[in-house]
Amino acid sequence: MTSTTQSKAVFYGVGVGPGDPELITLKACRVIQNADVVVYITNAKGHSVGKTIASDTLLGSKATQITLPITISMSIERKAINSAYDKAADTIKTLLVQGYDVAFLCEGDPLFFGSFIYLMDRVSPSHQCKVIPGITSVNAASAQLATPLTMLSEDMAIISSRSDDKKIRDTLVHYDTVAILKAGPQLPRLMELLSAAKRLDDTQYIEYATHENERVVTDLSQMTNEKGPYFSLLLITRPHREYRCD
Ligand SMILES: C[S@@+](CC[C@H](N)C(=O)[O-])C[C@H]1O[C@@H](n2cnc3c(N)ncnc32)[C@H](O)[C@@H]1O
Repeated sequence: MTSTTQSKAVFYGVGVGPGDPELITLKACRVIQNADVVVYITNAKGHSVGKTIASDTLLGSKATQITLPITISMSIERKAINSAYDKAADTIKTLLVQGYDVAFLCEGDPLFFGSFIYLMDRVSPSHQCKVIPGITSVNAASAQLATPLTMLSEDMAIISSRSDDKKIRDTLVHYDTVAILKAGPQLPRLMELLSAAKRLDDTQYIEYATHENERVVTDLSQMTNEKGPYFSLLLITRPHREYRCD
């Protein structure tokens, strides 16, 4: 990404992976530890998933490093979120103008449904931005469930539970593999859609993949009218897959 400012400082979006601190890449560790300022988003209660995942890494940071929490409540309406991002981007730009390299901690991968996307959009016209990729929740779920995402000629779609019923139904019909993110809060509705599409038996559920409190459900009939946390997803795959090609 190009820069139009005289400052050589860089705004890094750093993926810290899905939860297990050992799933942070060597490059992410190095960039985090060498950054002048580490920024992360907290919820209204002051909790940051990204910061928690990177806490061991941060123990090795240079002594002069500053950490800067930014509170953005995701439950508020779009206009308020936009102005919170505007404000956060202004703070980051001020640091960059002063010559500080800024690392923004992102749960999973920065450019996969990540808050970094909205900050990069605001910062990149005037400053250099670099992305350090991270292991996504979908890859983590696939690994923890020991379930291949795609093989041979299978197609895969990733959708949000916030999509309307028709889009979810059509996706379930047309794609071999489907990952539904933000699943927990919408589980009862998603179970009905899966059932109607005859794909309930093809579905596995995982919350907090690779965290210490990970939970896996492979038989969804056990979950009756239950809701789950935001950090959860459904992975739907075909029941019969061609493991051996003749
Ligand atoms: C805003 S998106 C962030 C995605 C993240 N950037 C990534 O690379 O996976 C949040 C959604 O990702 C999924 N997610 C993130 N981490 C997860 C985890 N450890 N276990 C299960 N789902 C997770 C959930 O569906 C959650 O609602």
